[in-house]
Amino acid sequence: MKRALITGITGQDGSYLAELLLAHGYEVHGVIRRASTFNTQRIDHIYQDPNEENPRLRLHYGDLASTEWILDLIYHLAPDEIYNLAAQSHVKVSFEIPDYTGDVTGLGTTKILEAIRRSGIKTKFYQASSSEMFGRAPAPQDEATPFQPRSPYAAAKVYSYWMTRIYREGYGMFAANGILFNHESPRRGETFVTRKITRGIAAIAAGREQFLHLGNLDAQRDWGYAPEYMEAAWGILQQEKPDDFVIGIGEAHSVREFVEEAFTYAGLDWKAHVKVSERYLRPLEVDRLVANTAKAQKELQWQPRIRFADLVAIMVDADMEVLGLQSLGKGKIILEEKLGHWHQWHNSVSKVIRATAGRASE
Ligand code: NAP
Ligand code: GDD
Repeated sequence: MKRALITGITGQDGSYLAELLLAHGYEVHGVIRRASTFNTQRIDHIYQDPNEENPRLRLHYGDLASTEWILDLIYHLAPDEIYNLAAQSHVKVSFEIPDYTGDVTGLGTTKILEAIRRSGIKTKFYQASSSEMFGRAPAPQDEATPFQPRSPYAAAKVYSYWMTRIYREGYGMFAANGILFNHESPRRGETFVTRKITRGIAAIAAGREQFLHLGNLDAQRDWGYAPEYMEAAWGILQQEKPDDFVIGIGEAHSVREFVEEAFTYAGLDWKAHVKVSERYLRPLEVDRLVANTAKAQKELQWQPRIRFADLVAIMVDADMEVLGLQSLGKGKIILEEKLGHWHQWHNSVSKVIRATAGRASE
């Protein structure tokens, strides 16, 4: 049985990746941070009692801000695959806590790479690199596009990207970068723009809020559906040789277009509800990200099935259900038709988002 270690297992991507690996028959180990309140809502539905015989999902405490746990854990587990998904992942927040972001999102990667090297184990390492690293580089962006980072978060990710390549080329390690463009889902953190919009719509439809306050509506992103991106992340580690891959849809939409599509799907007029607030603007902005995924299509045979309008329907439906409203139902049908068994609505959407429901206004 293959064994995998996931940092950031409690996040959006970590939770989907854990499900995927369990479905592939792996023993999955996840690193979680000690918190005074529960922070495992996204993985509670796959949690296994450690007192059971041979649980296939096990959790370990650790924080990438410190080092003492990493070498021990990696040496003793000797996982076949390590997925480094943990990060302070919010771009705007990285301007407010740049040094912490550098510690965790940047140096955290080196701590893991160095622990792998020192432990002497043979493993495959995946680094969650980001399209945010491209910053101002003209679209479309591919594996050869030079990085022009525009935030402390992006600079930290560029550092991690290069450390991954340095350990690959310098020590012959199987270390690969997945350069993922924005990917979303009903499990997306509540303060990222897509989820903020779909939660806001549900709150407006329920009569709980009247307005949704947003920042820059002109920025364009290449938005895809997170579970499919975790299929790609897994695929990157199944290659014979370590390499770097751009993963995205290849289509850009502005924040305004996301707003229009989502409000229209919910039967609401966005102009009556959306207000632009300076509070959500960033000191620097990334204007346009569009993936050129020719390499991933050819070498990973990876082809996303969920497109922009599908994603919007899935996310609006899910947030409607969180608030106990009747959803329009298109999202459920799309998932059944396009993704099939491992990502069913009841298990992967409803249970988890009810557990993660929070405030709509941030
Ligand atoms: P997310 O939902 O914000 O999850 C981040 C995870 O990192 C959580 O499990 C979080 O734990 C953990 N974490 C944060 N600080 C940590 C620390 N100091 N020590 C240990 N763990 C820590 O992010 P995501 O959307 O799933 O993204 C996963 C990874 O892909 C991140 O590295 C992100 O930067 C990168 N990425 C994401 C996208 C995207 O569009 N989603 C695109 C490109 C790259 P808690 O639950 O305790 O906070
Ligand atoms: N969060 C947020 N909140 N963003 C807003 C808002 C708002 O109220 N209003 C407009 N935006 C704009 C942002 O300025 C940005 O241009 C765009 O919406 C997307 O913002 P986010 O959803 O916060 O995502 P991001 O693109 O900055 O970063 C995400 O994607 C990266 C990959 O490109 C994160 O998941 C990163 O971790 C990831 O690496």
